[in-house]
Amino acid sequence: MTTEKPTIRWGIVATGLISSWFVQDLVLSRSDAKANHIVQAVGSSSLEKGKAFVATHIPGTAPTVYGTYEQVYADPDVDVVYIGTPHAFHKENCLDAIRHGKNILCEKAFTLNVAEAREVFEAAEKKGVFVMEAMWTRFFPLVKTLQKLLHTDKVIGDVHRVFCDFGLKIDIASLPAESRYKDLSLGAGSLLDIGIYSLTWGLVGLGQAEKPKVVASQHLIHGVDVASSMVISFSGGQQGILTSSTNARTARNFCRIEGTKGIVVVEGDAASVPGFFTVYLDGSEEGKKYDFEKPGRGFYWEADAVALDINVGRKQNEDTMPWVETIRVLEILDEVRRQGGARFPQEE
Ligand SMILES: NC(=O)c1ccc[n+]([C@@H]2O[C@H](COP(=O)([O-])OP(=O)(O)OC[C@H]3O[C@@H](n4cnc5c(N)ncnc54)[C@H](OP(=O)(O)O)[C@@H]3O)[C@@H](O)[C@H]2O)c1
Repeated sequence: MTTEKPTIRWGIVATGLISSWFVQDLVLSRSDAKANHIVQAVGSSSLEKGKAFVATHIPGTAPTVYGTYEQVYADPDVDVVYIGTPHAFHKENCLDAIRHGKNILCEKAFTLNVAEAREVFEAAEKKGVFVMEAMWTRFFPLVKTLQKLLHTDKVIGDVHRVFCDFGLKIDIASLPAESRYKDLSLGAGSLLDIGIYSLTWGLVGLGQAEKPKVVASQHLIHGVDVASSMVISFSGGQQGILTSSTNARTARNFCRIEGTKGIVVVEGDAASVPGFFTVYLDGSEEGKKYDFEKPGRGFYWEADAVALDINVGRKQNEDTMPWVETIRVLEILDEVRRQGGARFPQEE
């Protein structure tokens, strides 16, 4: 058996904020890296923008820079395409990449709705390529440790309730009409942008495999949800109370998980980037804190997982972010919007 790390060559599609964070983490030097990551190509709406992206965010590297996304898909030296466009383009970008036989890591929300996601997975299956939603938080060692403590070791007994909030203060009215936070045709709204993380904590924290019942409410301004609240409930009585808002920033203790023997409080910059958690057992004032090292931002854990999967020929990430989980998440988000009223023009 070889112990050599696989090498994977990335083609980056779009040069916005999230792509800049992702590539910076790819090139980070880490002693625990499970793969060698190479930024092989960058595709942007303009060649100049692409070149500036490389010079600013990954100086010292020399990817091929293209003025179209299509050229990234067609580049034979690209092993996997990373898609960092607004959610409204994910379906089209994925289908184009699949047509060229490319493997894909696509940002969250994976698509605008579950019907689009099914279309992408069907095409991927036919073509035999790897596809994964970039729900990076699930790959954090913190989340893996927490899942083991909650659901294998049962440190707080049976988990019955999870609260999670992801709020950011964004002055949407002051943003230009074409902002992805304002333009409904780009998928604007707190739910798909940040509510998806609150939902993720509910699903991970409760640890139930079935599809939950959903009761939801949204506050819309010009059709854009500035607040979304959902209660998901499972047949065993477990409940998740999961919220998002662009009206106010959440406090650092963004998530509380309750069990029959105690609670866990998860804290950090935001629900997307947990920093540590504390286990408080009933009857004890003192909690046990679990802290985790995180050089850079933490996008490399999902990138390593993609590299390992592709290296052994898997078509999806079975352990952490399988297709059925992306589908379950989007089914719930669709139901929240059905009850709450947020719709995208593509759905009219
Ligand atoms: N995982 C995370 O923590 C995280 C954080 C933030 C965002 N995201 C996700 O990543 C995606 C992009 O978010 P972002 O914050 O990076 O957005 P952004 O800064 O606005 O960048 C999006 C990029 O997409 C490309 N694009 C293509 N058509 C566009 C259009 N009509 N309008 C705007 N951009 C267009 C542009 O790149 P080119 O001009 O180079 O083609 C643009 O720079 C979203 O799906 C979001 O949910 C994830």
